[in-house]
Order: sequence, then C-alpha cells, then structure tokens
Amino acid sequence: MEKSVLQQVRYQYKPKLPLVLTNNLAKITLQRGQATTSVNNHNEIKELFPNSYGAPVVNFTEGSGNLKSEGFTVGAILSGGQAPGGHNVIAGLYDALKKASPNNKLFGFLGGPSGLIDNKYLELTDKIIDEYRNTGGFDMIQSGRTKLEKEEDFKTVAANCKNLGVNALVIIGGDDSNTNAAVLGEYFLANNLPIQVIGCPKTIDGDLKNELIETSFGFDTACKTFAELIGNIARDANSAQKYWHFIRLMGRSASHITLECALLTQPNVTLVGEEVEAKKLSLSKIVDIVADSVVKRAANGHNFGLVLIPEGLIEFIPEFNKLINELNNLLSLKAAAFSQIKGSETQIQWLQDELSDKAAQLFGSLPRDIAEQLMLDRDPHGNVRVSAIETEKLLMRLVESRLAELKKEGKFKGSFSPLGHFFGYEGRCAFPSNFDADYCYSLGFNACMLIMAGLSGYISSIKNLNKPAGEWQAVGTPLTAMMNLEVRHGKPKPVIKKALVELEGKPFKALVAKREEWAVETAYIYPGAIQYFGPSEVCDRPSETLRLEQSS
Ligand code: FBP
Repeated sequence: MEKSVLQQVRYQYKPKLPLVLTNNLAKITLQRGQATTSVNNHNEIKELFPNSYGAPVVNFTEGSGNLKSEGFTVGAILSGGQAPGGHNVIAGLYDALKKASPNNKLFGFLGGPSGLIDNKYLELTDKIIDEYRNTGGFDMIQSGRTKLEKEEDFKTVAANCKNLGVNALVIIGGDDSNTNAAVLGEYFLANNLPIQVIGCPKTIDGDLKNELIETSFGFDTACKTFAELIGNIARDANSAQKYWHFIRLMGRSASHITLECALLTQPNVTLVGEEVEAKKLSLSKIVDIVADSVVKRAANGHNFGLVLIPEGLIEFIPEFNKLINELNNLLSLKAAAFSQIKGSETQIQWLQDELSDKAAQLFGSLPRDIAEQLMLDRDPHGNVRVSAIETEKLLMRLVESRLAELKKEGKFKGSFSPLGHFFGYEGRCAFPSNFDADYCYSLGFNACMLIMAGLSGYISSIKNLNKPAGEWQAVGTPLTAMMNLEVRHGKPKPVIKKALVELEGKPFKALVAKREEWAVETAYIYPGAIQYFGPSEVCDRPSETLRLEQSS
C-alpha cells in the first residue's frame, strides 16, 4: 500500500523514553512500594480478588538489575474504541522484548478480546511493526468490544495461550477492558495457570486516570485534533458572522474532551455534564444558558457563536438520566419481548406503556429521531450509545424555539442560524502527537518490564508526564488498587473507577474563571494543526488538562 509523505517521514521518529528505560536491561531494577487497597469496598474487592488484592505499587530504577530477559512469548490485544498511539504501545512492547532477547516473541490477537477466544492471531515481526510505527489507528491488529468475563471464555483463552506458548498477555484498553484484565489475571492466578496479565491505559475519553495514571493515551491527540477543527470553525464563524455552531464532542460519560477543547479554543458556551448533574440542571435550564449567550451577543451585533456539548451530556440531565436508566433496564430485562416488536413507532409506544409516568411523558415529547437513537442497542458493557444521540440537534431546536418566544416578548432582536457538528471518529485515529507517540511507546516498553519482573494484575503507568520524557517515571499499578463496586445491570460489580471531571479541579476552575466573559465576547483561540516537527514547546506540549492538574 502507498504511504503518505508524512507517514514515511514519521517512521523515522524515535519516541522518547523515561531515562531509566533507556538503560541496559541488566541494570533495570524493580522496586516494590507499599501494599495497596482498593478505592472503596475493600473487603468485597479483597474477597473477589484474593490472589491479586493488596499488591504494592512498583517502580523501576537503575541498579544491579533483577529482571528476567528470556523465555517470553507475549500476546497483545487492542480493546474498545480506537485511540491515537495504540500502535506505538505495541512497538514499545516489541522493541523491549527483542532488546531483551531476539528469541522472545510477540503475537497480536486480532479484533480485540474476541481474537483471544477465537484464537485469531498474527506473529509480529520487524516488518509489520516498522510499517506501523508512530501511526494512528488500530489497523495493525484491529480492535473490538467483546467482553471477557465468563469462566468458559477464560478457559478457552488459557487453552489458546498454552497452545501458542503465550506466557503473558497485554490488554490495551479503557476502564472496562482493564477491569476484565484484572478478572482474567485473577482467574489465571487462582488456577495456577502461568500466564501473566498486564493492562495499558487507553481511551480518548480521558476517564481512566487517578493518582497513578496521570492520563490515558490518545486523549492528547484526539483533543488537539478536535480543537484544530473547532478553531477552524470558530474562525469561519468570526469571518462570516452568521452562524451559531453547536459542536458535540465524543467522550461518552466524562466531559474531559469538551473541557480540554474549551480551554484550547475559548468558545462562547461550554456545557459540562458533571456540572449539569451536580447542579441538577434541567434541559430547560441548559437551553436558557445557551439562549442567554445568544441574546447578549446579538445585543452587540454578534449573531454568531460556538457551543461545545459533551456527547454524554444527555445522561447527566436529571430527567434524561432517569429515562435512560429505565430504558436500559427495560431493554435488558425485557429484551425478548422488545425484539418481537417491529417498527419504531410501535416500539416507542410499547416502551412508553412500560416506562414510569414521568419518563414516559419525556420520552413521548422527544423528537422521533432522538427517541429512536435512545432505543439503539447498548454496547457489550451495557452503555447507551451516546455517540449516536444527536444532542446538538435537540439543543439547536429547543434554543431556536426559546429565542422565538424571547423575540415575541421583545427580548431578542438578533438572528439565529444554527449549524450542528459531531466530532469523534475524526480524532480517534489521527497520527499520534509527539506526546502520545512517546507516552504510548513508553507504556508498551514498561509493560514488558512488568512482565519481565514476573508481575500480573498490573497496569503499566508512566508518571511525571508534565516534565520532559527523560524525567518520566516507569511505574506499575495493581489493577485492584483502582477498583470499587458499582451497580451494573442491577447487580454490584467490581469495576475500575471512572474518573469524571472534578468540579473542584483546576481545569474546570480555569473554565469557570473565564466563561462569563467568553459567553459575550469573541475570545476564540485558533490552535491550528498538530505539529510533528519544530520547536519542542510547540510539538511536545502536553494537554492543558495535564498541565493544569500538575501545576502548583
Ligand atoms: P473507549 O472507552 O473504548 O476508549 O471508547 C471511547 C469512545 O470513543 C467514546 O468516546 C464513544 O462514545 C465510543 O467510544 C464510541 O464507540 P464505537 O466506536 O463503538 O462507536
């Protein structure tokens, strides 16, 4: 296949590693820290993970060396939604394995977790790896959302690994996939099966983070890509001065992407799902917030603007949250009955009859397309497919009718011409920024060190990310240290705690400090495209979220 000039040149990029990992393997030394506990529900998690619970956080330093270098056959999977940098995780893992011994092997299981069950794999070689260095996408071995949680699947995975001689698995995924990694690792330990399991923190959503995981990979590149597009639209809006752009951004539940893009572009209105939930803002109140900015800007002759909407917003609006929960339960508990009903009109009617009065009323009042989008199949983890719900269109219509009322009352004298956009898939496979290229390569390399240290049930963590890569720290975090119990499908389940936007956190406070001004003024910033070559302050700059979170 022909390659773009950028891709060819990008192959030559040498990702940066934490200094300790640039050492000869014989000098890399594992140090064990204090024992850990889960985030919450300590006794319950301990009981569910008797063999992995309480393991210490570990880190690597330069010393006399205590890692084993030979005899490793590793299997890797990419799990869940694409995130820029996945190929570099695999390249880092591969390079570390081969640096330790040319006899070590790496298999890529194809299509995500299902590849492990169906035994579909590819032995990765120099030729394959070199074709994907520093590129976006997951196309080297593809991805999937199959859940690994049934004991019969674990048995099949163990048998497939045994046949191939695989003695360690690296699961590159988000919170749900790493939860599955923890369960699989525990199963192997409990059954004395010699297969180590190591996770890597992936998701553009940015919601797999905590004290030890400073950010998930892909967030930086995806946000920079979206911010470039938003900046371009902002400049178009400011040039033509005739459209209000309603831009919905991926991120599932968490609004980290929207917040980061807002800090990079300074739009007129930024909605943050977590704030909507905390303040119990109704849909009507949200419409007022947007309409207020439109009215104030129109008074200054500015009949244009920008609204950023997180795709998960709808789940945070109290009345919708109740409706979605009821729909989730109905669609899972009465799936068989629902599947017999043909035609969306009849389906909507059937659901309305089954829902509680308030939820039925809201569901019935929704435009038909939005009601249909709310009925779409859930993903294998039970999540509503927020990427398919066009909240921006719902808001555009509601703001339009609110403005019509205000016009009648003489309170709005401008014009309002809305345009809707959704950015998600545009950012998930971009060429990784230098930050993500370096971070991912380091995560993969470090995952190999954790394997060579004989550990299982850990996630590869790289810390100190706001500093130059040489000062980054190579760490391993027990997966159970990030877990708590949450109710899923009506039952308590051990899961890795999702990190939502913290309203007391510095990134959100930075938005709050400026948003009243931005609601009225035209204060847009145009970030431009990601730069891969040039001064480090342009090319290596981490996300604003990370910079603010780590600022003193
Ligand atoms: P992960 O959590 O698996 O990384 O996926 C995140 C995401 O990109 C969300 O932002 C989005 O809602 C979802 O995937 C879309 O899923 P799909 O790719 O299945 O349409």
